[in-house]
Amino acid sequence: MIIPVVTIDGPSGAGKGTVSRAVAMQLGWGYLDSGAIYRSLAIATAQQGVDVKNVAAVVKAAQDMLLEFECAAELIVKLDGINITSELAAETTGNTASIIAAYPEVRAVLLQKQRDFRKAPGLVADGRDMGTVVFADAEKKVYLTASAEERGKRRYKQLKEKGINANLLQITEEIESRDRRDRERVAAPLKMAEDALHIDSSQLSIEQVIKEVLDWVR
Ligand code: DC
Repeated sequence: MIIPVVTIDGPSGAGKGTVSRAVAMQLGWGYLDSGAIYRSLAIATAQQGVDVKNVAAVVKAAQDMLLEFECAAELIVKLDGINITSELAAETTGNTASIIAAYPEVRAVLLQKQRDFRKAPGLVADGRDMGTVVFADAEKKVYLTASAEERGKRRYKQLKEKGINANLLQITEEIESRDRRDRERVAAPLKMAEDALHIDSSQLSIEQVIKEVLDWVR
């Protein structure tokens, strides 16, 4: 039996995480936050003092890391048995994740870890290459975008709510440079799958996006 997958790809801050979690919950399906896997590797390399330019060392860290995901009210991630959830959201973690995600050798190691999430009754997978590479056979694909300005504002608000000090202009610039890196890399770049539904969430509420995705999936 083929286990159904809904993929939700797009640039950072477009609302993929919130939308994917809500859609997974509504459908009663599992949820894969593939960015959290790259972010966990970024944390593992920092903990081990690995130079991110040393591809072989990053690959080794990717092979060695033991990740556990627990889907409670929020996603809890454990790296080698230790809860790293609060460190995952940091901007530095996202930027390092984007740097190491450009290495094809690293992506190859993490491919199966992502595919292992495909379990009955179904999976909602969020990332950059879910619909183009990891679950290219998914029946329903969404490409979720928003203007860089809007995404910057959302990320700024999220960080403020978490009590993290942030600068809106700097956040927006970091988002744009991370997007550029994710789009321009050779290995599995961020791009819209040919058969994806494109939703621009700049002028939409999160509820409207969730409804549009659910209508399309159903
Ligand atoms: O979705 P996110 O912001 O948590 O992702 C962090 C970085 O990880 C992102 O800038 C690029 C990388 N990433 C990737 O290359 N492929 C994915 N499927 C998910 C994330």
